[in-house]
Amino acid sequence: MAMVCLTDFEEYAKEHLSKATWDYYAAGADECCTRDDNLLAYKRIRLRPRILRDVSVSDTRTTVQGTEISFPVGIAPTAFHCLAWHEGEVATARATEALNTCYITSTYSTCSVEEIAAAAPNGYRWFQLYVYRDRKLSEQIVHRVEGLGYKALVLTVDVPYTGKRRDDIRNQFKLPPHLKVKNFDGVFQQETAGAEEYGIPANTLDPSISWKDVYWLQSITRLPVIIKGILTKEDAELAVEHGVSGIIVSNHGGRQLDGGPASIDALSEIVDTVQGRIEVYLDGGIRTGSDVLKALALGAKCVFIGRPAVWGLAYKGEEGLREVLQILNDEFRLSMALSGCRNVAEINRNLIQFSKL
Ligand code: FNR
Repeated sequence: MAMVCLTDFEEYAKEHLSKATWDYYAAGADECCTRDDNLLAYKRIRLRPRILRDVSVSDTRTTVQGTEISFPVGIAPTAFHCLAWHEGEVATARATEALNTCYITSTYSTCSVEEIAAAAPNGYRWFQLYVYRDRKLSEQIVHRVEGLGYKALVLTVDVPYTGKRRDDIRNQFKLPPHLKVKNFDGVFQQETAGAEEYGIPANTLDPSISWKDVYWLQSITRLPVIIKGILTKEDAELAVEHGVSGIIVSNHGGRQLDGGPASIDALSEIVDTVQGRIEVYLDGGIRTGSDVLKALALGAKCVFIGRPAVWGLAYKGEEGLREVLQILNDEFRLSMALSGCRNVAEINRNLIQFSKL
């Protein structure tokens, strides 16, 4: 089967993964309104293409946190890549290194951060972090990833509790016994033999986390801190005031609060508030090159893909994820050219037909 677009990989993954694994990756919270709206929202946005602008040469490169990447699409942190492909995050690291883009490694990886760094020593990586009740756990992993050359910490702030994902409850989803949350191998096992959520002891995350923990995190690291999971201008302003280096506008792929906005619909108010003081990124529902173009036109510096990366892994591991990224890159380049943009600096709000929104 020729893989032409990202939904081809989705279909393949749905056919070939076990039902419980597919359901876990696909899940949204409750009625999945926000998950589904993440995609629909892009379809409501129309572009204003410019013509006759000599697009014979085009350049998709950009920078994030001062580092050049080949195009403005990175990999969002998603858990448990070994469920999709036996090499798991090692394959993800190799594919992203080959395509020269940014890979945000999830705390809940099924390969350790050391294995990931060794597999792709020249890859550009950020590390996604939660704050645990036991702050020492968070502190230890921060120091490990600093030593391994991860370039930023991404603090996910939309999970004081895990959202209610109905299929996972029905399937009683948990990691199969041969897989582990490798970064905490031994630690979690000793900690509790009690209730688990997704193979992780329940209640390890700290729901009392607040803005003062952002200061705490900054005090224990020299890495830039980026906050993932902001959806309002009020929180964007607080993030800037707290000295963070970036914001990822995200609703966790619709897996947390159902009824919140599509991430692309939340982007503009955040970009308007931030006024260029820090970089603003976005994830959620990116499936085509023109989705990427729309997000950049509305002010995102870069976008990240969650589920499509896992579909690529499920198809052919490293090679499958490379294909997913290459297709998105090609589609993005084409959308840029067809709307008259020769490079990412030429993408701006004039490309968006606001009267239709
Ligand atoms: C996630 N996401 C996520 N986010 C995070 O900060 N840490 C994590 O461990 C995970 N794990 C995770 C697992 C799975 C299966 C999914 C689908 C998502 C959220 C993720 O980073 C991102 O916000 C969304 O996936 C983006 O939406 P799309 O691209 O999947 O539509």
